[in-house]
Amino acid sequence: MIFDTHAHYDDEAFDKDRDYLLVSMAEQGVAYIVNIGASMTSSEKTIALTEKYPFIYGAIGVHPSETKELTKEDMQWLKIKASEPKVVAIGEIGLDYYWQEPDKSVQKMWFERQLHLASEVNLPVVIHSRDAAQDTMEILKKWQVEKTAGVIHCFSYTKEMAREYLNMDYYFGIGGVLTFKNAKKLAEAVEYIPMNRILLETDCPYLAPEPYRGKRNQSVYIDFVAQRLSEIKGISKEEVLEQTMKNGKVFYNIND
Ligand code: NI
Repeated sequence: MIFDTHAHYDDEAFDKDRDYLLVSMAEQGVAYIVNIGASMTSSEKTIALTEKYPFIYGAIGVHPSETKELTKEDMQWLKIKASEPKVVAIGEIGLDYYWQEPDKSVQKMWFERQLHLASEVNLPVVIHSRDAAQDTMEILKKWQVEKTAGVIHCFSYTKEMAREYLNMDYYFGIGGVLTFKNAKKLAEAVEYIPMNRILLETDCPYLAPEPYRGKRNQSVYIDFVAQRLSEIKGISKEEVLEQTMKNGKVFYNIND
């Protein structure tokens, strides 16, 4: 069975067939999905999805690119909603220097505030870090003193960086990119990362694996990522799915 630890089913790419798709998940081998908030609106939509579907859990938080107009009141709202029974993490939060918007200083400030929020409500964090390896590491090192669990979503840095994160006790979100032909550096890092630190994710509707690269992604396609991971690790696909299922439940503290 599949655990998709990072999905965006609130995205408009699913407006036409969301319910049809989600209702069919169980029979296609998907046991759990964590829908990830990326803005205040999508955090609200995430909570609604968790209320509608028993197998969907949620993370609430604001993506770095969406931090420009955040307010203290928004943080207060997140803090209150963090106690909803199926809210299992704060995220996705972090730094994105690929899109230079908003300003780095603004992104950093809201990243730090949301990390602190996660400590206050004692939930794990889902971290988005793109072209911002150094600043992310610097902020996370400061956070170590009050750290909860954390996953580096869509891990795309080097093996050396993976080592640093492992030493700080992080998990790694691995998705469709692993199946791309040009993903040598990632394959090398993944070979190094122990199986009990890997979470499988889609980031759907984005980052569909081969052979669907460029198309709309969805949780069932995680099968192709599991296949590739099993080749890299030299174990069966079933073992990959079993171990990553266990990891997902431990990380998000899901006990059913
Ligand atoms: Ni995402």
